[in-house]
Amino acid sequence: RRYRKTIIAGNWKMNKTPAEAKALIEEMKPLLSKTKWCEMVLCVPFTDIQAAVKAAKGSKIAIGAENMHFEKSGAFTGEISADMLKELGVKYVIIGHSERRQYFNETDEACGKKVQVALENGLRPILCVGESLTEREQDVTMEVIRKQIKIALQNVAVEDIKKVVIAYEPIWAIGTGKTATAEQANEVCSAIRDCLREKYGARAARGITIQYGGSMNAKNASELLAQPDVDGGLIGGASLKSADFATIVEAAN
Ligand code: G3P
Repeated sequence: RRYRKTIIAGNWKMNKTPAEAKALIEEMKPLLSKTKWCEMVLCVPFTDIQAAVKAAKGSKIAIGAENMHFEKSGAFTGEISADMLKELGVKYVIIGHSERRQYFNETDEACGKKVQVALENGLRPILCVGESLTEREQDVTMEVIRKQIKIALQNVAVEDIKKVVIAYEPIWAIGTGKTATAEQANEVCSAIRDCLREKYGARAARGITIQYGGSMNAKNASELLAQPDVDGGLIGGASLKSADFATIVEAAN
């Protein structure tokens, strides 16, 4: 674990207006002030970024986006580019969340382009991978994840891989209250590390932060985070409540 950072990231999804974002971060700041070495990130809707960055100033909370486009600029109505995010002070960007894959047809190839563009622009991608319930039942979990990783990281060189965060989010555990057991989470996170080792070597693989996401909350966080290959969490629902998020961060410390 000392080889890599623990990162607790919130994913607010489509929640909170700028004023609500400001209020929530103000509420969180004093609760998170004692954090020592765990990194904290809040990924917020595009429209909240400016308010969130301002509110998080003077704290250790970094602000992330929930998505971005891979083109630099141009005729892509409704899309947001990496340099737009960068200029606002964004440090992280979620790529390939299962909701984007499912509802917005995001492909592994598009994720690959986004990861590359994020890195080129100095943003740290949080690449989400994970299997559906059917895939787990058919025993093809790692096959699915291997493919997701292979394509999404196809343009990432060994000197950049440390900047990539991987989030293992089993789709059946997202927003369902059904958490993967600590053993299940560790098993897949560890298999993801094996897969990274094959491509980038043991040294690089040891240094990569691999988070678990899917109904992580104030109650189950410490058990999940105690697993040797679970280096943090990507938290949906519980990141919208200051006390719960603070408890999770505490568990990571
Ligand atoms: O990205 C985080 C997420 O998908 C998990 O959501 O609400 O189950 O914690 P939730």
